[in-house]
Amino acid sequence: MPAISRPRGTNDVLPPESATWEWVLDGHREVASGFGYEPVETPAFEATEVYERGTGAGTDVVEKEMFSFTDRGGRELTLRPEATPGILRAVLAAHLEQRRRPVRVRYAGPMFRYARPQAGRYHQFWQLDIEAIGERSPALDAEVVEVAWRFYERLGVTGIQLQLNSLGDLEDRRRYRAALVAYYTPLRDQLCDDCRRRLEINPLRLLDCKRDARFVAGAPEIGASLSPPSMAFFACVQELVSDAGIPFRLDPRLVRGLDYYCDTTFELWHESLQGAQNALGGGGRYDGLAEVLGFPPTPATGYALGVERTVAVCREQGLGPSGAAPHVTVLGIGVAGNRAAPVVAGRLREAGISAVVDASDRRLDRKLAAAARQGARLAVMVGEEEAAQATATWKDLETGRQDRSAVTDLAATIRPLLDRVP
Ligand code: HAM
Repeated sequence: MPAISRPRGTNDVLPPESATWEWVLDGHREVASGFGYEPVETPAFEATEVYERGTGAGTDVVEKEMFSFTDRGGRELTLRPEATPGILRAVLAAHLEQRRRPVRVRYAGPMFRYARPQAGRYHQFWQLDIEAIGERSPALDAEVVEVAWRFYERLGVTGIQLQLNSLGDLEDRRRYRAALVAYYTPLRDQLCDDCRRRLEINPLRLLDCKRDARFVAGAPEIGASLSPPSMAFFACVQELVSDAGIPFRLDPRLVRGLDYYCDTTFELWHESLQGAQNALGGGGRYDGLAEVLGFPPTPATGYALGVERTVAVCREQGLGPSGAAPHVTVLGIGVAGNRAAPVVAGRLREAGISAVVDASDRRLDRKLAAAARQGARLAVMVGEEEAAQATATWKDLETGRQDRSAVTDLAATIRPLLDRVP
């Protein structure tokens, strides 16, 4: 029978790379917590309407990339393609924003988009997400940008480019949309099929087309459509981002692929990611989303960063956790030894030492070789005699030094050997 393979567009995260993955997640948790972002969990699927109304019916994500299904009760559901609408729904349904504003939350988990799989683009991928809900201020937009920036700084990633733009408010966007329609309508017959449709339903998306890139260069820029208050808001965001010592570029064509953005939008690009998949992450303000989901108007801002793309950049730059904490392998020899080994290991763990038990019936020399292969610094051997005397024989696998200790003294005896820098 052929072995079952992994579904298309998915990844397994296995040791040793899984250590880098965990290090990335831990780094984000620590940096975002440091800014006051608290963890949330929401369902991996929502009513399809959440994305049709929230993410936007005219977006590529909703039009082409959703994993949608009807459940046994006839309900239309979709595996979340992104976390933002679900998190906003959860926070507003629980009225968290009435108790404190803004509500700062963070999330890490898998998302699902049926995009054509290629390097950096998967059917299931992980996002690191923060959302600040309930306040409209440039300071909060700048904070969100700063959290992302500090996160990559902490990982040690270099070569990131921050792109900033403002889409203005609803009225500005309406003006800009009209300007785009006026520019693109005479070109209609030369546009690709997708762009002809975008011209009708979502003109902002015309700027993202790779096939019609030659027209994008001459398209009107959003700046000309921004009202004075929108310009002042964006100028303030830029000042605050500069004050935080974060370099950025203004990109007047950065419209993002999702419908709900207004005012500040941003993306973090990395030179090593290719072409259309060069964004490590992105986000911005989405003051209109709450109403679209049927809640009272509530301003909000946030971002999502791609974990697979972040891990790929870390790998390329040789970044990762500094070696695993040194550990000990406890080897049982014989029936009594194998029975005592887990107890001895338990004592070591109580003293804060990582201990792996090898209770297999392999020969001692094989067990010692396996312990060394798995990176153990020390082997602790427990045979019949040791078990009877409540002792253990330890061996430094690097120097070959060997001795016997009472189990009660073992942790104190071997700790200096483990703490030694290899
Ligand atoms: P997004 O730009 O659609 O934004 O996705 C953010 C990041 O998720 C991308 O930059 C990329 O790193 C990663 N990503 C997206 N699609 C894929 C894929 N198919 N395979 C691998 N990685 C992918 C959002 O999702 C918004 N919810 C961000 C946000 C939060 N805006 C406000 N709050």
